[in-house]
Amino acid sequence: MREQLEGLLTKARGELAGINEAKGLESWRIRYLGRKSELTNILRGLANLPLEEKKAVGARANDVKSLLAEALQQKTEELKSESTQKSFRVDDTLLARGDITLPGRPYPVGRLHPITQTLNEMCDIFISMGFQVIEGPEVEWDYYNFEALNIPEEHPSRDDMSTFWIDRLMSPRGWKGLLRTHNTSVSARIIEKMEPPIRTIEIGKCYRYEATDATHGIMFYQVDGLAVDKGITMADLKGTLYEFARRYFGEDRRVRFRCDYFPFVEPGVVMAIDCAICHGEGCQLCRNEGWLEILGAGMTHPEVLRRGGIDPDVYTSFAFGMGVERLHMLRHGIDDIRLFYSNDLRFLAQF
Ligand code: DAH
Repeated sequence: MREQLEGLLTKARGELAGINEAKGLESWRIRYLGRKSELTNILRGLANLPLEEKKAVGARANDVKSLLAEALQQKTEELKSESTQKSFRVDDTLLARGDITLPGRPYPVGRLHPITQTLNEMCDIFISMGFQVIEGPEVEWDYYNFEALNIPEEHPSRDDMSTFWIDRLMSPRGWKGLLRTHNTSVSARIIEKMEPPIRTIEIGKCYRYEATDATHGIMFYQVDGLAVDKGITMADLKGTLYEFARRYFGEDRRVRFRCDYFPFVEPGVVMAIDCAICHGEGCQLCRNEGWLEILGAGMTHPEVLRRGGIDPDVYTSFAFGMGVERLHMLRHGIDDIRLFYSNDLRFLAQF
């Protein structure tokens, strides 16, 4: 019986060593430690042995039992830690391709240019007040850029708008080609094309033949606006532009209207907002004025309406025009317009 016990121990250990999956452990346990196992049989058979023998064999049988139980426990743990190591090994192969524990590389994400953002924001404000967004040609006839707007050939205000003329571009009607100097040219086209009631903003680039400096570019963006209807008054102009200024520059903005001259409006005004930095006290941004001029506006000149086929005795109209870069610069305290177009991401990515 002793030999049987030792043989059992060797056999069971050998088999256990050969198991390399957790699945095999349970059947091994049933075979060697279960109720119907050889060992249980031996223990049952002890009863028939003489006392001395019973004691000795019984003790050894219990030893074998606990040795096998211990071995099973150990093997179970071994297999468990092996399987965790295996899953680490999968990671090892990934590590060999590159260190996956390093923080990810940020992908540079594109964004809209600050001027595009500002333009979108301005459009949203005017759209919410019932205006329609219009685009027109950048290469324009001098008729729409000047004549239609009360600026004939000899008019001194042509000098204010240094023009890029386009050589040899001439319409059948004798109009000369140019790059539009303001978006009011598109407003002139609208007066000619559309029927009142009209509420439009004309957005896009315009061009001036000038030396560039901190406040002038040869190209910049404008938003021009036009409202034509029966009974439109200066109060509508002020209300609309006041609302725009508060929406774009902040609720507590104050506005100031002053008379000014533009050939295509009568009366003409410039609108200013109180300086966001000094609130009217005077500082560098507002050149000690306390006010910042943001746009030109006025009641559309009757002659301009008539020329475009709208009867000024029936309809009245207001118009306005402003530079998009200037608005953005005033809101963000930027002092050089060239920053928008020199493609330095350190500047552009701030917006
Ligand atoms: N076109 C003018 C400019 O570029 C701005 C302007 C002033 C537009 C008054 C208007 C207006 O529509 O009514 O300087």
